[in-house]
Amino acid sequence: MKTYRLAIVGLGRMGSTIDAEVVDYPAYPLPYSIAGACQLIPRLQLAAGADILPEKRRAFQEKWGVAALYEDYREMIERERPDVVAICTVGEHHAPMTVEVASLGVPMIFCEKAMACSMAEADAVRDAVRKSGSKFLTGVLRRWQSTYQEARQRIAAGDIGQPKALVHFGRTNLLHGHSHTLDTVLLLLGDPRALNVHGELLPREVRFESGRLERDPDAVFQVEFEGGIEAQTVRGGAWDFEVHGTEGVLKVANDGLQIALRKKTPVSKSFEPYLETVLPPPALPRSPTVTMLDDLVSAHEEGRPTRSDIEVTHHATEILFAIAECHHLGVPRVALPVQNRNLYIRHR
Ligand SMILES: NC(=O)c1ccc[n+]([C@@H]2O[C@H](COP(=O)([O-])OP(=O)(O)OC[C@H]3O[C@@H](n4cnc5c(N)ncnc54)[C@H](O)[C@@H]3O)[C@@H](O)[C@H]2O)c1
Repeated sequence: MKTYRLAIVGLGRMGSTIDAEVVDYPAYPLPYSIAGACQLIPRLQLAAGADILPEKRRAFQEKWGVAALYEDYREMIERERPDVVAICTVGEHHAPMTVEVASLGVPMIFCEKAMACSMAEADAVRDAVRKSGSKFLTGVLRRWQSTYQEARQRIAAGDIGQPKALVHFGRTNLLHGHSHTLDTVLLLLGDPRALNVHGELLPREVRFESGRLERDPDAVFQVEFEGGIEAQTVRGGAWDFEVHGTEGVLKVANDGLQIALRKKTPVSKSFEPYLETVLPPPALPRSPTVTMLDDLVSAHEEGRPTRSDIEVTHHATEILFAIAECHHLGVPRVALPVQNRNLYIRHR
């Protein structure tokens, strides 16, 4: 078995320490951090780390026993030649760093979400990753969580008939939070293409100044996908997703803790109520971060795209910026692709 050397840029929560925040929370089987997950994957070796803060480098060395530590991530890549680079810095660095890491020829790249602060940045990432041929994915962890994967399989197997509508319940901001929401929407519906979007940023008075917002606003949206499927978010609730089909409804509740299935159940010729079954949780819950990094390495070895590759991530980002553009222009709907590639939203 070949082993691959993984290097982390940004030795903070997601890179190193977040596991301590989510102990005994069954929706997120640990390890959550990239460093922690790397330890559980025999094909990966935690080889190096970079952070601009000396105290973060010191803490990382003490926690994980890694000695190859750098202030400058480019120097780390040039000297250590890692096979995988995990970009775990805050949002405004994601796109420029991914472009740089791809251009340095790193074959596997993990980048935290959201991938970019504008569509111009997202285009640059897509072009750099296409050019380098690097395998790529971002930290939209629900895609890798067993419950959501089971939900996707049930929908694909026809348990609810043809999906017609999806409703997400949860209050969150556009880039940091709805990058998760939209990736899960895409996963549950089988990665369809969005055609057009209605979106609003909140509070509703929020305005771009010279095409920029300096903080990531809350948002609501409604998306029309190919095949006439509609998806929307409701600004409240406990991070639930309901997918409504021609034969039933599948609900992933409490951020992935439960799945419930309501199916049309004929009582008589004219009466078909929807009766609910709560399904048992998946038998073998596994750390989504481990499943995700495993897919990155398997994609590299098998010469295939990752299951959340650059094209899927770029499209999800296009939907996010269509929401922002709809608010910015004050129009009812925006068609994809978004014309204005330069709207910029700074996010962590
Ligand atoms: N996928 C998830 O569920 C999840 C969970 C938590 C955080 N995140 C994401 O992870 C990213 C990081 O968040 P966090 O909470 O870990 O932040 P953090 O502040 O704890 O860590 C970021 C680290 O990056 C370092 N850094 C900044 N600039 C750098 C540079 N130029 N070179 C090297 N290091 C640099 C900082 O010093 C800091 O140590 C964010 O984008 C956040 O959205 C995702």
